[in-house]
Amino acid sequence: MKKKYNVAIVGATGAVGQTMLQILEERNFPVNNILPLASSRSNGNVIKFCGKEVKVQEASPSSFSGIDIALFSAGKSVSTELAPEAVKHGAVVIDNSNAFRLDNEVPLVVPEVNPEDLRGHKGIIANPNCSTIQMVVVLKPIHDVAKVKRVVVSTYQAVSGTGLEAIEELKTQSKAILEGEKAIKNEVYPYQIAFNTLPHIDVFDDTGYSLEEWKMVHETRKILDDTIAVTATTVRVPVMNCHSEAVNVETYEKISVEKVREILAKAPGVKVEDAPKELKYPMPIYVSGKDDVYVGRIREDFSIDCGLNLWIVGDNLRKGAALNAVQIAETMIKDNLI
Ligand SMILES: NC(=O)c1ccc[n+]([C@@H]2O[C@H](COP(=O)([O-])OP(=O)(O)OC[C@H]3O[C@@H](n4cnc5c(N)ncnc54)[C@H](OP(=O)(O)O)[C@@H]3O)[C@@H](O)[C@H]2O)c1
Repeated sequence: MKKKYNVAIVGATGAVGQTMLQILEERNFPVNNILPLASSRSNGNVIKFCGKEVKVQEASPSSFSGIDIALFSAGKSVSTELAPEAVKHGAVVIDNSNAFRLDNEVPLVVPEVNPEDLRGHKGIIANPNCSTIQMVVVLKPIHDVAKVKRVVVSTYQAVSGTGLEAIEELKTQSKAILEGEKAIKNEVYPYQIAFNTLPHIDVFDDTGYSLEEWKMVHETRKILDDTIAVTATTVRVPVMNCHSEAVNVETYEKISVEKVREILAKAPGVKVEDAPKELKYPMPIYVSGKDDVYVGRIREDFSIDCGLNLWIVGDNLRKGAALNAVQIAETMIKDNLI
C-alpha cells in the first residue's frame, strides 16, 4: 500500500498556507493526518481539509511529534525558531521564508530546475522567493541551450505576495477611493497601493537595493549557476494575484526567437502564450489559479549581439510558494528522500 504522511502546515490560516491545503487536496497528496498550525490568534479556529473539519492549533516547539513533513509559511522568525525543532522531531521541513535560503547546508530547490540538490539534505529544504521561482523555470531551458550570461529583471508584483492583510488593504483602499473618500488609510505598505506603484519590496540596504532585489540576484545564482550576473528592480503594483516580470537575458550563444519558443514549449512547468498581434500575451487575471508559469512577448534584444526580452507571469501563491513546496515534497517521496 502507498505510504501516507503526517503533514503539518505552519501558517495554515495565511494566504500561502490556505493555498497549500488546497493544492494538497487537488493533487491527492498522500496525507495521513493534517495538522494546521498558526499563531495563538487562530488557536481553535476550524479549517476544512478533504471534507473534514480540523482545528487549528498554536504552533510551538512540541507541535511536531509524529510529523513526517512540515510545510512552513509563517515568516522568517517563526521558521528560525520552529524549523530546527521540527527537524529534531524527525520531520522534513520545506520552508517558504528567507530564513535558510542562502545557507550552504540547505538546498534551495525548484523541482523543474535543480531537483538533484535535494540529495544529501539535512532536514530543511528552502523554497525560493516567488519572483525568483517563476523566472528560473523559464531561464533554465534557455541556459541549457545558450548559457545565460546576464539577466536584467523588473518585476510587477501582486499584493497577495505580502499576504492576506495586503489583499484586504488593496480592496478597502480601492473602494474608498472610488467612493470619493479623501483620507485613505494605509497600514501594510508605507503608501497607498491602490492606483499606485511602489518601487519598494522588503527593506532597503546601504547599496540602495531592496532585500527582494538581492533575493533575485543570490537565489537565481544558487539555483541555476553562480556565474550568471543578475540585476533587479522589484515593484509592487495594485494587482490582486500573480507577479509579472520583464526579463532581459544576455546569452553566450546566439539563439533565435523561434528556437526559444520551441524549447520553452517543451519545458516542464512553462506555457508559451506569444502571439502579440492576435493580442495573446500572459496577464495576471488569466494566469491566476494556474500551475504553469506563462511566458510571452519573446523578442530579440537588438541592442546587443545575443539578447532576448521576455514577459513572464506566474501565480505567486501557487508556483511561487505553495505549489513549489508541495512539488518538492512529491519529488522527495518519489526519490526516497523522506
Ligand atoms: N504570499 C506569497 O506569495 C508568498 C510567496 C513566497 C513566500 N511567501 C512567504 O510565506 C510566508 C507566509 O506568507 P503569507 O503571504 O501566507 O502571509 P499571511 O497571509 O500574512 O499569513 C501568515 C501566516 O503566518 C501565521 N503566523 C504569524 N505569526 C505566527 C506565529 N508567531 N506562530 C505561528 N504562526 C504565525 C499566521 O497565523 P494567524 O492567522 O494566526 O495570524 C498566518 O497563518 C512568508 O514567509 C512569506 O514571505 C509568501
